Amino acid sequence: MITICDFQKKKAAGEKITMVTCYDYTSAAIVNKTSIDCILVGDSLAMTMHGFRDTLAATVEMMALHTAAVSRGAKNKFIIGDLPFLSYRSGLNENMAAVQALMQAGAHAVKLEGASGNAGFIAHLVHSGVPVMGHLGLTPQFVHQLGGYKVQGKTEDSAQRLLDEALSLEAAGCFALVLECVPAPLAAKISKKLKIPTIGIGAGAGADGQVLVFQDLLGLNTEFKPKFVKKFLNGAELFASALEDYAQAVKTEEFPAHEHSF
Ligand code: KIV
Repeated sequence: MITICDFQKKKAAGEKITMVTCYDYTSAAIVNKTSIDCILVGDSLAMTMHGFRDTLAATVEMMALHTAAVSRGAKNKFIIGDLPFLSYRSGLNENMAAVQALMQAGAHAVKLEGASGNAGFIAHLVHSGVPVMGHLGLTPQFVHQLGGYKVQGKTEDSAQRLLDEALSLEAAGCFALVLECVPAPLAAKISKKLKIPTIGIGAGAGADGQVLVFQDLLGLNTEFKPKFVKKFLNGAELFASALEDYAQAVKTEEFPAHEHSF
């Protein structure tokens, strides 16, 4: 299993970091058998696992339950638990309780969105032994503040603001930074300026690593087709076809056969 020290080493060696989201035991056990470096139990689970329209519906309880399931399935992976909407903006005691819930569920680090107003809390976590991953650009918990899911950092001012925020998260003690939906040249520039690695999603090839949502990269989600997703499998079609084969086999009495019976 990699540690936060390896994130730094990989960046120094020019070796790309690979991250995938994962939310359940069975999928985690599959990821555990791959060379993928780390797992994000993302608050995107509100959408992928629970069918909500955005990530605002995720709660600490949901995140802890899914983190525990992933940690039982992926024993050899570094696991990052996502702090859900407002759970780190509610006063120190409540914030710490949220972090404690995720860490005690099996996370090795937590991730939180945004920079403004978070530096003090990040430093407190780092001094308390909790590694923190930052997240800038299109931060989905800010969807209503951003006015929708839009590429961020397109103007000179907003690009400069993103760079300043990235530097402030590094100074606060983050060990890595997710950059979501920012122009590729800006992500490359931020990645060069930072000592900590960046992990991109919709941020081009210049980031120090990449993350994709499990359901997106395996083609399990047919309704969501953003430009930055590459489907590595037609999962939904393959699953549906296998399920159809099963239904037909039952109807035609091909299943269960002799070898499936006691
Ligand atoms: O929740 C999530 O899946 C994320 C990734 C998209 C980075 O935050």
